Amino acid sequence: MTAPSKPAGRIFSGAQPSGNMHLGNYLGAFRNWARLQDDYEALYCVVDMHAITVWQDPQDLQAQIREAAAAYMASGVDPERSILYNQSKVAGHAELAWIFNCVSRLGWLNRMTQFKDKVGKNREKASVGLYIYPNLMAADILLYKATHVPVGADQKQHLELTRDIAQKFNNDYGEDIFPLTEPVIQAEGARIMSLRDGSKKMSKSDPSEMTRINLNDDADTLANKIRKARTDAEPLPGTADKLDERPEAANLVGIYAALMDVSRDAVCAEFEGKGFGDFKKALTEVVVTKLSPITEEMARLQNDPAYIDQVLKDGAERASALAEPVLAEVKRAVGYL
Ligand code: TYM
Repeated sequence: MTAPSKPAGRIFSGAQPSGNMHLGNYLGAFRNWARLQDDYEALYCVVDMHAITVWQDPQDLQAQIREAAAAYMASGVDPERSILYNQSKVAGHAELAWIFNCVSRLGWLNRMTQFKDKVGKNREKASVGLYIYPNLMAADILLYKATHVPVGADQKQHLELTRDIAQKFNNDYGEDIFPLTEPVIQAEGARIMSLRDGSKKMSKSDPSEMTRINLNDDADTLANKIRKARTDAEPLPGTADKLDERPEAANLVGIYAALMDVSRDAVCAEFEGKGFGDFKKALTEVVVTKLSPITEEMARLQNDPAYIDQVLKDGAERASALAEPVLAEVKRAVGYL
């Protein structure tokens, strides 16, 4: 018998249960989580504490937490091979976040573009939790000394902040406790844009359903959304660099490429000279073929909430066991009695 090979490191990642899970979450995150779970020791968390930084109806939140867990599993995350749990069940996230609130600097948080984009002109009305959100995210990752974090491109700045917090903590307390975590961002699928506006990312919080492909959309809804997706009158070019000034066209080609696991150049070569009427038909077929097994599996899992709750409970116990020694080490370094 050969000994199991050593994991390449430890992964932590998560998604907010704040609305429907969509194609951006799948291509930017969930799919890659499933692909990485055998090479790394992996924790995949439903970040319900992050979700309440904006108002969530308590009844809806419970369903959304289960929906997120179902989406992870339907995308291939196996709760036996990974640790799948929800954040609020492991108290160490909140405890470490408080310590990081005292390490992180106001100037650093003031530079966070996601906060600025989210609050717009309503900064004074935003919750304090939304402002310090990135400190909690750093706590999520560093509570397990995670070495790698697979995410979409929109999380890059938050991961840079995580490294700044780790470095400052290590310097301030004179101990090398935290690693400098690396982001893992894929070439294709890391930034899926709105179907209606190629300058905005596909997002759970967009009020228009027509901007995103939800993982629980049925085939007719998918076809309708793709048919109505914004494009331009030009045919597809032979190479992807010619899509630079055509954000909506580039996005649809990017979705096709990511779902088929090929490059945008390969998609352009295949469809060169074709109009978007033809391309959208091919894209619909690919989206329906790839997503319908996930949609069906999500529905099946969501019909069994007791199973999902058991998975989350087991996961929380395993996560707590990993978090405890790290938290003890941090508390000692800080000088808590
Ligand atoms: P969230 O819930 O916004 O998104 C979950 C994951 O999906 C990715 N993603 C996208 N990827 C490509 N195109 C898109 N349009 C798109 N929209 C979302 C995100 O990059 C993310 O990987 N702050 C995080 C959650 C979080 C977290 C963490 C992540 C909390 N703690 C620790 C990693 C590590 C967030 O709001 O993701």
